[in-house]
Amino acid sequence: MEKILEVKNVSKKYQNKEGEVLAIQNVNFRVGKGEFVSIIGPSGCGKSTLLSIIAGLEKKTSGEIYIEGEKMEGISPKVGYMLQRDCLLEWRTILSNTMFRTRN
Ligand SMILES: Nc1ncnc2c1ncn2[C@@H]1O[C@H](COP(=O)(O)OP(=O)(O)OP(=O)(O)O)[C@@H](O)[C@H]1O
Ligand SMILES: [Mg+2]
Repeated sequence: MEKILEVKNVSKKYQNKEGEVLAIQNVNFRVGKGEFVSIIGPSGCGKSTLLSIIAGLEKKTSGEIYIEGEKMEGISPKVGYMLQRDCLLEWRTILSNTMFRTRN
């Protein structure tokens, strides 16, 4: 099956006032073309952290992410991410929310 996403040994440590928080450690998985994957787990296990890293919104501490075989650094236009809260621009239609992109 054609590989769309590969997550290799990805770990993330956050720094807060009390010290380091190890949010995810050595996460490995692949997603093939057309596959539908759910990530489930208790609150605080690192689901949002992992998705934010894949979307390029959060920096990983270590590991690599490949999108269609290309090593990903930062935000990729190939990845879309819908947050737990919808965060839509209320004055736009659903279509124009979907079409919205920042200049760069
Ligand atoms: N910005 C941050 N600074 C410090 N620690 C953080 C930060 N964001 C998340 N964490 C910690 O990292 C761990 C994973 O959090 P994350 O939000 O990824 O979990 P989650 O699985 O998405 O939880 P939920 O099901 O409640 O959404 C938790 O221990 C959390 O407290
Ligand atoms: Mg979450």
